[in-house]
Amino acid sequence: MANIISIINNKGGTGKTTTVLNLGAALTKKRKRVLLVDLDSQCNLTSAFGADTPEVGVGDLLVGSATLDDVMIKNGKLSLIPSSEKLLDFEFQLNNEPGREYMLREQLDKVADDFDFILIDCPPSLGTLSINSMVAANHFIVPMQAENFAFIGLDRIMLISEKVKKRMNPDLDLAGILFVKLDPRTKFSQAVIHSLSENQNFKGKLFNTYIRQDISLMESGAFKQSVYDYAPKSRGADDYNDLAKEILKIYG
Ligand SMILES: Nc1ncnc2c1ncn2[C@@H]1O[C@H](COP(=O)(O)OP(=O)(O)OP(=O)(O)O)[C@@H](O)[C@H]1O
Ligand SMILES: [Mg+2]
Repeated sequence: MANIISIINNKGGTGKTTTVLNLGAALTKKRKRVLLVDLDSQCNLTSAFGADTPEVGVGDLLVGSATLDDVMIKNGKLSLIPSSEKLLDFEFQLNNEPGREYMLREQLDKVADDFDFILIDCPPSLGTLSINSMVAANHFIVPMQAENFAFIGLDRIMLISEKVKKRMNPDLDLAGILFVKLDPRTKFSQAVIHSLSENQNFKGKLFNTYIRQDISLMESGAFKQSVYDYAPKSRGADDYNDLAKEILKIYG
């Protein structure tokens, strides 16, 4: 049974897509079977994965006009359910669907035994699609930068996740907060991390691994590769490898 992890933050540009692609690639290097799901109509994950814009994508799957076999694509050991720009239209369509929050779960249940991990890349919002990811998942990871105001959104994510847990998915838990694009030398980022680690609500919920700022992570996505194909000796490759190890230590 796959461990399904939603990578979520309603703030844009916090490293969600970069984390899904490179954590996924790091887990396959550890012989895990991994499926990535692009739930964002920006299609950044689909593009970084190296897939051409597909005819059918996750939106078709959610509204039932395509099957998993129709949409799933493979690149080496990684599999992907891609997104397409049409996802925006499907989101409107979904809003009239009874049980609209369960549509992704219904589909992922069918393939949960075929994978060890399913990582879901959310759009930068807490709308129907992100809620679908939380209903389908066992865990969620919140990637964030150690910067001013980063925590303001965190309260909101926690509030929504508590509602999802109570009403729809009792299995949902915060796997951890992941600091990304970090320059660990700056006093400010150290102060931000310290203040969050002292916060009662998040004690023990910060990953020990930090993802440092690394140009290779930015470039690899643009060149449609994971960091392991583009720059296997980079800091980014090391950091996502450490994150995979930390996750495997917790969840096996
Ligand atoms: N550790 C890092 N070091 C340097 N650049 C990074 C790092 N992580 C991500 N980036 C870059 O930051 C930008 C935003 O990252 P990414 O697209 O992963 O964020 P996102 O949360 O998925 O954004 P969106 O909310 O728009 O979907 C990208 O250009 C990415 O290449
Ligand atoms: Mg993204």
